[in-house]
Amino acid sequence: MVPQISTLGGYIFEYQKSVTNPTGFWAHVADSFFWRKKWDCVLDWDFEKARVQWYSGAKLNITENIFERHLFYRGNQKALIWEPNDPAEPVRELTYQELFDEVKRFSNALLRAGVKKGDRVGIYLPMVPELVIAMLACARIGAVHSIVFAGFSAQSLSDRMLDAGATILITADGGFRGSKTTPLKAIADEAMEGCNCVKKAVILRRTGEDIQMKAGRDIWWDEFVAGASTDHQAEVMDAEDPLFILYTSGSTGKPKGLVHTTAGYMVYTAYTFRNVFQYGDGDVYFCSADIGWITGHSYLVYGPLLNGATTLMFEGVPTWPDAGRYWEIVDKHKVNQFYTAPTAIRSLMALGMEWLDGKHLTSLKVLGTVGEPINEEAWHWYHDHIGKNRCPIVDTWWQTETGGMMISPLAGITPTKPSYATMPLMGIQPVIVDPEGKELTGNSVEGNLCIKYPWPGIARTIWGDHERFVQTYFSTYKKLYFTGDGVKRDEDGYYRILGRVDDVINVSGHRMGTAEIENAINEHPLVSESAVVAYPHDIKGQGIYAYVVCTDFSTGGEEGIRQSVLMAVSKLIGPFARPDKIQIVSGLPKTRSGKIMRRILRKIAEGETGNFGDTTTLLDPEIVEEIIKGRL
Ligand code: WTA
Repeated sequence: MVPQISTLGGYIFEYQKSVTNPTGFWAHVADSFFWRKKWDCVLDWDFEKARVQWYSGAKLNITENIFERHLFYRGNQKALIWEPNDPAEPVRELTYQELFDEVKRFSNALLRAGVKKGDRVGIYLPMVPELVIAMLACARIGAVHSIVFAGFSAQSLSDRMLDAGATILITADGGFRGSKTTPLKAIADEAMEGCNCVKKAVILRRTGEDIQMKAGRDIWWDEFVAGASTDHQAEVMDAEDPLFILYTSGSTGKPKGLVHTTAGYMVYTAYTFRNVFQYGDGDVYFCSADIGWITGHSYLVYGPLLNGATTLMFEGVPTWPDAGRYWEIVDKHKVNQFYTAPTAIRSLMALGMEWLDGKHLTSLKVLGTVGEPINEEAWHWYHDHIGKNRCPIVDTWWQTETGGMMISPLAGITPTKPSYATMPLMGIQPVIVDPEGKELTGNSVEGNLCIKYPWPGIARTIWGDHERFVQTYFSTYKKLYFTGDGVKRDEDGYYRILGRVDDVINVSGHRMGTAEIENAINEHPLVSESAVVAYPHDIKGQGIYAYVVCTDFSTGGEEGIRQSVLMAVSKLIGPFARPDKIQIVSGLPKTRSGKIMRRILRKIAEGETGNFGDTTTLLDPEIVEEIIKGRL
């Protein structure tokens, strides 16, 4: 088992060790894993070139560290508990042995279909156990999984498959989420039209809806695995072989395929899972994130399973059949650690206390949050009414790029403060810089958050575009990894994340680039340009405000344009990226050099009427007045 810290003194001591002797520290943590061959060099790095290698020369397979390493003790222990969307449907539970057999069977089926080490496998599935089976089977044979959240549109799926060069796509007929079903196969069909790299598709039957099967390309999951054996030797991987690609949004351009590699990611997710949640043997852990996002990858699947934990996955949504669903699940499965997003907490809080009636919540020991800043009111509600004042809250700050948690309390060990992610985890060396890149030392400072030393979970590159990786993360400030977040370090040295300082917005914990949404809106034939900004939203954290300039209103007037803009965004990105407010304007505030002054648009969306800072460079000041008048 990975070393576990159990006191505040222990944290302080280990943290010191981890920064004064990082390689010694991470070699010691890595000793608790199963290696086919140990590393030649713990760490080799150069932030200027964005090159980081951990445990190079080592050989391993991450699934041997999930299965073979635990089987002797935990073969009959539950690995995965699956709670279906509809509470009337039976729960599915897989022991480590059962999950292992399914993973081996699917591994053999993939090999039989010609999938080889290094090939990319697209996965577009709802939250069902087969999603975990498919991803672990990829890892077992050394194929690189690229999971796309099942809320993304055909266009987004197609773009991702093309960029990754996926040769096979694993999907389902449809998916259930609350009272709705999503026609995943129909969406995947449309996506596959646009990406000729995908030659095969495996279809899981979930909703039973009518779908088209394309001869020669599509095969049902059951037929795909039929006759496949449960004997399978894991492929031996190099420490730095890619484990997966996961796409995420940045301030500019198309989404980036971040690449995580095998050994460092394994060590880091396993270590942080155990220590942050203080997971103990026999506990039941429930992460409500979708596996389509990094939280699901690292802390629903890899982190827990690497620790031999029992991890619970939920197919549905927190408000169906009613807003007591999470709490019902907690009681039904006696959940000990619960990890969710502030948005979920805020929306359940807004729906009232009656949904807690009759819920005991006595099994809970630790509560976690991730994905966006948590406001104090939501923190207290979570602490008082869900944790009943006895469960520590771990507010965990991290990113798709970081692979695992970076700044977070250790449950029950680090004293917490509402809305603070508190202290850096082992090996994490945060620095705060001003816009010129000067490091702000000492306490009571605020600025941009960077990290000055590598940790094992850091992403290694952007798939197919290392230069973009260098530019995005390692060029703003010399020799520093730039997170894109603003942060405050208070008088006690505690960190509070203030939110993004770039053009990335965070809506209900879903990360999006404003440029991506603008590109989708601009596809509309009657739109000449648009600008998208975020504004504070009580439930979602941030809402999406779109300013749209149209060439013509002849079809359907302003309302018609709004409706078709919403449709375009759903179609090109996914329904979750639909703007909350669309203001039709006759122009956008621009500088003389033609740059849109987003700062002004942001302030208007936030409700300000003046105080826009320097506006002397504005080309057309009247447009600001017009936009303020028409504000929604
Ligand atoms: C934000 C999610 C405040 C932050 C794991 C970051 C947070 C972005 C927190 C990454 C937190 C994540 N407090 N903000 N505890 N956790 N964020 O890549 O802006 O989907 O940069 O990873 O979410 O989002 P991503």
